[in-house]
Amino acid sequence: MARLAGVLLLLAGLGLAAATDYTTNGPCAMARVDKLVTVLPSSTGCRLNECLLKVIVTLPSGGDGCPAGPYPVVWFFSGFSSRAGFYSYLANRLASYGYAVVQYNPTALIITDAVETTFVAAIRTFLQGQPAGSPLDGKLDWSREATAGHSRGGKLAALQLAAAPAEFETAFLIDPIDNTMFSPEGPDYPSAVKALAALDPKKAFGLIGAGVPSACNPPEANYTGFWAEAAPGSWFEFIPGATHADFINIVPGANIPLPPVCGKGTTPAEEVQQLTATTMTAWFESFFRGASMLEFDAWILFKVEADVVGYEVKQ
Ligand SMILES: *[C@@H]1O[C@H](CO)[C@@H](O)[C@H](O)[C@H]1NC(C)=O
Repeated sequence: MARLAGVLLLLAGLGLAAATDYTTNGPCAMARVDKLVTVLPSSTGCRLNECLLKVIVTLPSGGDGCPAGPYPVVWFFSGFSSRAGFYSYLANRLASYGYAVVQYNPTALIITDAVETTFVAAIRTFLQGQPAGSPLDGKLDWSREATAGHSRGGKLAALQLAAAPAEFETAFLIDPIDNTMFSPEGPDYPSAVKALAALDPKKAFGLIGAGVPSACNPPEANYTGFWAEAAPGSWFEFIPGATHADFINIVPGANIPLPPVCGKGTTPAEEVQQLTATTMTAWFESFFRGASMLEFDAWILFKVEADVVGYEVKQ
């Protein structure tokens, strides 16, 4: 009840401050640039078809109330064997609020973490070299970069953040998985949790954890290790009814259920994805633009009150 009273107080405050509803798309129209094919230099350590990448950028393209560019750049890393399009619901929401989201689809299925973490610098050079007049020309703000990702992509996002803390300001990790029995720690697969632990000062980031256990998110590699290394001010949203696979949208908009290899949840995947898109957008809006979180705070407190999520800000 105390929490509900807090919600009501927050709602009363809404009339007094500009607030934004991150559960729906923002003011920007969106454009997707998906014809960018690059061959990475062999200095990245890639071999043969590992070096061929398709890069996808989702970005704002005007609209009433859309912030002026250039836009903060969010690098989004897909989960193991997942395609960039499975996460376009997240890229769209972010772009609609004024972010440029960079994703890529490798041609090779298995690329080690050590090799894949060198891709970002090569892709950045490729994107910065797009000719004048291209759809990306002047749109990406290379002084404001963040990483994000799901599953192994969350691990890659954490590794990137830790490897270049001067370039990447923050991250948003969606049920990240550190080393498992399938990718034991070693030179090819460094531990992201250890990399975050070695950061001084530590970084603040947003984190989502799925509560349904399965072989996809083994306890020794799950979100808890990441949260332990988060700086004060970081957010943790725990979704007890979500499985590790609920963050994947295979056919955008259709929410085709996946075979339950990652367990069976009680929160519908649509809702898990909505919680994720909303919280991720709010995190970046709060971090990069200092936006009012009044309406977001009220929204999340209602979700907490309804036992849909747990929510914590690191002290
Ligand atoms: C995540 O790991 C922690 C610590 O090992 C454990 O308590 C928790 O149950 C795990 N969560 C899931 C979904 O397995």
